[in-house]
Amino acid sequence: MKKIIVTGGAGFIGSNFVHYVYNNHPGVHITVLDKLTYAGNKANIEAILGDRVELVVGDIADAELVNKLAADTDAIVHYAAESHNDNSLNDPSPFVHTNIMGTFVLLEAARKYNVRFHHVSTDEVYGDLPLREDLPGHGEGEGEKFTAETPYNPSSPYSSTKAGSDLLVRAWVRSFGLQATISNCSNNYGPYQHIEKFIPRQITNVLSGIRPKLYGAGKNVRDWIHTNDHSSAVWTILEKGVIGETYLIGADGEEDNKTVVEMILEAMGQSKDAYDHVNDRAGHDLRYAIDSRKLREELGWTPEFTDFKAGLAETIKWYTENENWWKAEKEDVEAFYAKQGQ
Ligand code: NAD
Ligand code: DAU
Repeated sequence: MKKIIVTGGAGFIGSNFVHYVYNNHPGVHITVLDKLTYAGNKANIEAILGDRVELVVGDIADAELVNKLAADTDAIVHYAAESHNDNSLNDPSPFVHTNIMGTFVLLEAARKYNVRFHHVSTDEVYGDLPLREDLPGHGEGEGEKFTAETPYNPSSPYSSTKAGSDLLVRAWVRSFGLQATISNCSNNYGPYQHIEKFIPRQITNVLSGIRPKLYGAGKNVRDWIHTNDHSSAVWTILEKGVIGETYLIGADGEEDNKTVVEMILEAMGQSKDAYDHVNDRAGHDLRYAIDSRKLREELGWTPEFTDFKAGLAETIKWYTENENWWKAEKEDVEAFYAKQGQ
């Protein structure tokens, strides 16, 4: 692969992938196609824009633009999405536009120009799992996690549009022989994540003198993975993945939300209980957990950043040192949540 398009490459995870490819695969030219919505930020890739990394500002649902770019590439790595559950509960329409229509336009272009396609998706397409404490034997063993065979059961407008986009990809593989793979990853954390999301919201709350906000009782469990590990996994699938296959990406990082808030508070020198319980999210998924054995055993991938406490400390340091990156948006983000009692 000499030329790739990365959709959503100015967002949190997409920009991490662009840096990953830039640093590790010097022979590859990257065209970032990004609409620069509220979640996209040119600053995330500014330092590497030049001969090897180009930014095209545009909509993945713009067929004319997408066709023009697809005619001159070897692969499309598709990250662009509306990605936040809480926003999808407030207004689902951009989620249908980008996640469904945008993916459709990209698939048609990949089909037309016979381009390798990798679709970046989420574990949320599988719905949720019971809490371990409610399972016989407390859910020890891999059997109690999502696998590629778990039936789709999405809960929110966000996850249902991601599920719809996955199914489009599968149909394009079967009906048209598209050279595509899919990955479904668990919750990412790390630098450059928008402050609407759980971990950066709480870190920037503490930095702004606001108490962290925990939805409901905080028993919900997420399976945290450092975004650098997500990037190495996607590259592995792009190079070695079997066409038509789905790979689940995870790093065995299950933590409940209350524990994560307490860890952030402790790491930032605050009292562990200095947070507020706020209104729960409608339809809030209880637990996600990934069984990533297929990716590890068949493609030889292993995560590197498995010390969550250390990764969290590094993330706190980044938000502390990069106030300019997030400060201007903080008031609006908190005003949005305040309207919902969150
Ligand atoms: P993000 O919201 O930080 O970034 C999304 C990017 O897509 C932004 O740069 C935005 O400008 C761009 N974009 C949105 N609509 C567009 C459009 N119509 N045309 C072109 N660009 C558009 O999202 P993220 O958290 O980095 O997630 C990236 C991908 O990874 C998504 O597909 C998401 O479903 C998936 N994913 C995310 C997580 C997570 O924990 N955040 C976990 C698993 C999978
Ligand atoms: O599992 C992968 C998914 O992870 C991705 O597909 C999504 O794009 C990504 O946003 C993320 O979804 P979540 O809904 O799990 O992430 P979020 O950061 O919004 O919330 C994480 C958990 O924290 C969730 O249980 C809700 C809770 N929460 C969130 C916020 C913003 C709080 O308790 N307080 C908060 O202020």
